[in-house]
Amino acid sequence: MGISMTCHAARRSAVLKQMEAGSAMLLFGAKEALRNGDADYIYRQDSDLWYLTGWPHAEVALLLIPGSDKPSVLFVQPKDPAMEVWTGIRPGTAGAEAVFGLDEALEWGALAGTLQERLQGVHTLYYAIGEDAGRDGLVLGAIRAAKRAVRFNFKCLPDQFIQPGRLLHEMRLFKEAEEEALLRTAAEITCEAHVEAMKMAAPGVNEAELHALIDYTFRKRGGNGAGYTSIVGGGENACILHYIENNSVLTDGDLVLVDAGCEFENYTADVTRTFPVSGRFSTEQRAIYSLVLQANEAIIELVREGTLFKDLQATCVRLLTQGLVDLGLLEGEVDALVAEKAYHPFYMHGVSHYLGLDVHDVGRYTEAGESRPLAQGMVLTVEPGLYIAPDNMKVPEAYRGIGVRIEDDILVGPKGPINLTASIPKSVDAVEAACAG
Ligand code: GLY
Ligand code: MN
Ligand code: MN
Repeated sequence: MGISMTCHAARRSAVLKQMEAGSAMLLFGAKEALRNGDADYIYRQDSDLWYLTGWPHAEVALLLIPGSDKPSVLFVQPKDPAMEVWTGIRPGTAGAEAVFGLDEALEWGALAGTLQERLQGVHTLYYAIGEDAGRDGLVLGAIRAAKRAVRFNFKCLPDQFIQPGRLLHEMRLFKEAEEEALLRTAAEITCEAHVEAMKMAAPGVNEAELHALIDYTFRKRGGNGAGYTSIVGGGENACILHYIENNSVLTDGDLVLVDAGCEFENYTADVTRTFPVSGRFSTEQRAIYSLVLQANEAIIELVREGTLFKDLQATCVRLLTQGLVDLGLLEGEVDALVAEKAYHPFYMHGVSHYLGLDVHDVGRYTEAGESRPLAQGMVLTVEPGLYIAPDNMKVPEAYRGIGVRIEDDILVGPKGPINLTASIPKSVDAVEAACAG
């Protein structure tokens, strides 16, 4: 499973085709990051570089030059038996060509010199200028070093920089069949993890235990782990949107909100479920949950070709505001309450984002300043929520501290929305049954 070498090669060809004559693209891989002392964070490749190469190792750069003999050149760590004893096998330049299918592979240390040579005759460089001072220095240094040569050979040097994302991120926005398959697997593993968490939750169990069980399930099923730091928030912790301490004891009568998605072959799911610690919703919890669920289901129906992205949020705030009025938690006329953002103390985030290699995936949300219509092949989350602050004295006490979010991953299919995470229990009955399981 995974994205094949031919698929990566086809993507590189598609990028090269879109690049004008006299341009080049330079992409760097992710840097290794020190956690503390001598200990590194687990390495995760940069998503753009991964998209075009599948190369999993650090110290890597990809140079694309359309029209040249060898248009795709990868700069990689050389084989190094002494280092390989410490950190594992390095494919080296031979592996980059034979196994990863690059036209040419050179050693990482040759990058500056090669750029100095191959950027002669290039007027436009697709390069993420401004992100990393060291890399900017290397690229600009190569251009500066080439200046003497071009005085004699009359070639040009790059004087225009374009962010590579302008090409790559539009491609990444529309998922290919291979990517859909990986997202489906990520969703399936995520389903198992959420169901396991529902089963384990009980008064006295720590949020950390649920977190560990979720991580265990992700890894056991072949995932890389979580695609983002999991949120496991019991009781009023659910009202802290980015709660990641995940270390409180779950209490009888509370809900627990779990936002956790498995990353599989670098593609991630992004799913939230909220369920009762003791297996049964209280009246107030059920009322809030049902309202969020109604919004989740209505908005999923809109994730189809032609819907404007902004209409997802507009629909969400209207439905939640209407529901809060029906429950007596807001007072007034719905249009006016929406206009004055009266829902904001209860719902303060966006209802959707693109999903793929990154949890908040790339791609433009607007076109010519207008909200973008959804199109086939996009994958988006739908994630309405309600969070009633524990100190909100304007609502009856039984509602205070309730936090609910319900998040699914939706593919814009040929005939409408395809819910990739539909198998994760979501109705009140299904959630209560899963908790009892
Ligand atoms: N888990 C991050 C988000 O829902 O956007
Ligand atoms: Mn999300
Ligand atoms: Mn999420």
